[in-house]
Amino acid sequence: MTVVIKSDNEIEKMRVAGRLASQVLDFIEPHVRAGITTEDLDSLCHDYMVNVQNTIPAPLNYAPPGYSPFPKSICTSVNHVICHGIPGPKKLKNGDSINIDITVIKDRYHGDTSRMFHVGEPKIQSRRLAELTFDCMWAGISQIKPGAHLGDIGAAIQKMAENAGFSVVREFCGHGIGATFHEDPQVLHYGRIGTGLKLVPGMIFTVEPMINVGKPDIRQLADGWTVVTKDHELSAQWEHTVLVTNTGFEVLTRSEGTPLPPDGLSFKV
Ligand code: MF3
Ligand code: CO
Ligand code: CO
Repeated sequence: MTVVIKSDNEIEKMRVAGRLASQVLDFIEPHVRAGITTEDLDSLCHDYMVNVQNTIPAPLNYAPPGYSPFPKSICTSVNHVICHGIPGPKKLKNGDSINIDITVIKDRYHGDTSRMFHVGEPKIQSRRLAELTFDCMWAGISQIKPGAHLGDIGAAIQKMAENAGFSVVREFCGHGIGATFHEDPQVLHYGRIGTGLKLVPGMIFTVEPMINVGKPDIRQLADGWTVVTKDHELSAQWEHTVLVTNTGFEVLTRSEGTPLPPDGLSFKV
């Protein structure tokens, strides 16, 4: 495992890329309405990235080993889709919840972030799941400081999810990120306190828990990308790209529209 420690110059580039990724989510939020297709959301984001930001949408044609090239510029994961949903012709309807996952490349560096959105008025269960998953992401992020272990992040997320009666998806995890989209380390969203890699200033990785209402089991669709819950129950995800600083952490994927951390977490974001 090779974990890259970023230089000050690289960190500055990651701040820029992170802000740009978050700004795509700010841009798309008002368009997440009943009647729009996920394909429309994709083309709106694509044009914004390419023409307004001068960024490269990292998902487009991304093909890690064993995968076919991803055909779109963003991931749209609706309701029981856990992650890697491919935008398509299906229209959003009231009561749907959707994760939009944006990764941009600017000046060679990647910013990766996702948020949950509700279409119209969410059902109580969808709202609870999205909020709890947001809290899980923050429970994980708030563990980050030099000398802490990766297992502290996973343990905090798992505890919060399971205490609420939800389950943690195990097959996908957070990841180191920089000039490469996915690099070491793997950031598991479950685990034990005090285990795993020790954190050092200059590390940059994502925290992106996927939490299910029902069982944790997944099913991969025949398109080679879309991951759904095996029991077809709801799933939610939030994602930030985070830097380990000398005293704690800095969230790099921030912009005007970034939801604030949950009440009671009194740290600098
Ligand atoms: N953005 C996703 C992540 O958080 C990865 C998507 S890969 C893609 O790691 F090809 F589907 F876009
Ligand atoms: Co990611
Ligand atoms: Co992502």
